[in-house]
Parts: sequence; structure tokens; C-alpha cells
Amino acid sequence: MQRILFVLLAVAMSLAGTSAVFAYGGHAGPEPKGEALLLVTFGTSVPKAQKAFAHVEKKMKTAFPDTEIRWAYTSHIIRKKLAEQGKQIDSPEIALAKLMDEGYEQVTMQSLHMLPGAEFHEVYTNAQLFEDMSGGIKNIRTGYPLLVDNQSMDLVLDAVFTQIVPKERKPEDAVVLMGHGTHHPSDAIYSAMMYKAQEKDANCLVGTVEGFPTFDEVLAKLQAKGVKKAYLIPLMTVAGDHSINDMASDEPDSWKSQLTKAGIEAVPVMHGLAEFDAIIDIWIKRLKASMLHKHPGK
Ligand code: CO
Repeated sequence: MQRILFVLLAVAMSLAGTSAVFAYGGHAGPEPKGEALLLVTFGTSVPKAQKAFAHVEKKMKTAFPDTEIRWAYTSHIIRKKLAEQGKQIDSPEIALAKLMDEGYEQVTMQSLHMLPGAEFHEVYTNAQLFEDMSGGIKNIRTGYPLLVDNQSMDLVLDAVFTQIVPKERKPEDAVVLMGHGTHHPSDAIYSAMMYKAQEKDANCLVGTVEGFPTFDEVLAKLQAKGVKKAYLIPLMTVAGDHSINDMASDEPDSWKSQLTKAGIEAVPVMHGLAEFDAIIDIWIKRLKASMLHKHPGK
């Protein structure tokens, strides 16, 4: 008799669902859904620069046709600015909470940041917590940002030279890549990129707005080489605020103005990296490979 009661109890509990440890009933969870891809970027409030994101989305939809694609911006300031214009963009945490609430069980979060800096580490940490939650997302993968290792630096430089550097550039003209720079230890990646750039093309240099190498270091190298003309290219996902103001504006402290003052003709190339197929293909290839790995780097 006791045995029958036990079996009945077990059946009742399994019918009530897995949450029956403490309660008798429990609410039914959302209907399980398939895979979602959450694209996470710093964001931009420059409408022209946002076209790069539309391009990324189109390419991702083609590469992953059965996957729900969502966006999140890590920049609070940009989200606030866009909200004031009536455009609501989620933070990564809100986007993950929505996916969890809707029943997505497999979520891949792809960072569209340049390198694994402060924003990347924050979203990576928080995404893992969504997996640990009760009723959380079953499996969350996080894809590394663009520049993470030797191979990715080579791939990005290849893409820059095949798709971004204007065809009319002569070998004696410099190609100057302008990165953002960060106070995070990953700032060292820009110096590694400078080394790789110099190996690829003696007249290709890398500088940053807020980190190292500095613009002054770049300028000193250009002067030592006797460069007369330099193409300025953003080493950023989109050609947004920094490209417009710090790189290409007529303000006296912009890179263009400072080069002009030094007698070097500056030609800004106003395109973000995410506008180019060769760059998006790096992310897509990595995403396809990462389907085998739960955590980045493993
Ligand atoms: Co900035």
C-alpha cells in the first residue's frame, strides 16, 4: 500500500513539473523556444553609423536563418539618447531577461566590441548568471569580440587592406587606424595591432583616442618616415561620434587637423568595420565554430 502511495506521489510530482520540490503545484513555464542570437554592441546614436548594424543583422540572418536575432547596447548614454528619440534599445541584461521570459533555451551572445575590455567582461559575467538562475536560460554562450588573438588581428588587417583602404592609396601613403583605447588591461591589444600592422605594411600604423599607442606616437612615426599623405580609418565597429569628431572634424585637436598642421595630407575614410563583409564574416565563422564550445576560449 505504501509503495502504491509513493508511486502515485511520484507521478503527481512529475506532472506538476520539476519545481515541485517545495510546492505542490507551480506555474507552467513558458513554452520552450529554440535558439536566439543576441548581438551586443556599444551602440551609436549617429543614424548613418547605425546602417552598419542593419548590415550585420542582414548577414547574420542569412548565416543563421532559424535563429531569433536580437540586439542590445552596452552604452547607457546611447540608450538614453535613443530613448529620448523614441527608440527603445535594451541593455544586454534586459534583453537576456526577455529571452528567458519567452522561453529561449539556447542563447548565443555575440560581442561586437573591438576587444575584450570592460564592457565585454561585464556582459559575459552577467550572462553566466542568467544560466545559474532558477528557470534561467539553459545554455548561454558568449562570443569573443573582434580582436582577441594573433589570428584575429591578422584577419582584421587582411580585411582592412582588401576592403577598406581606398584603391587609390599608393605604397608611400600611410594607413592610420584609429582605435578607441581603454583603461582596461586589454588596451595592450592596440599595441599588438601596431606591431602586426607594421609587419603587414611598413606605412600602416595604429593609434588610439584614449589609450596607447597615442596619436603623438603615430605622428612621430609618420614624421620619421617622411609621410606626405595618410588615410585615416576607424578601428571601430561603426564610424560614429569618435570618427566624426576626434578623427575627421575641423576642430583643432582632431587627427585630421593635427596631421594637416604637421604638413601631412589627411584623408578620413568614414566607414566603420561592421560595414564590411570581410569583418562580419570573421564573427560568423567564429559563431559557427563556437557552437561546439560553451565558453569562449575553451
Ligand atoms: Co568613447
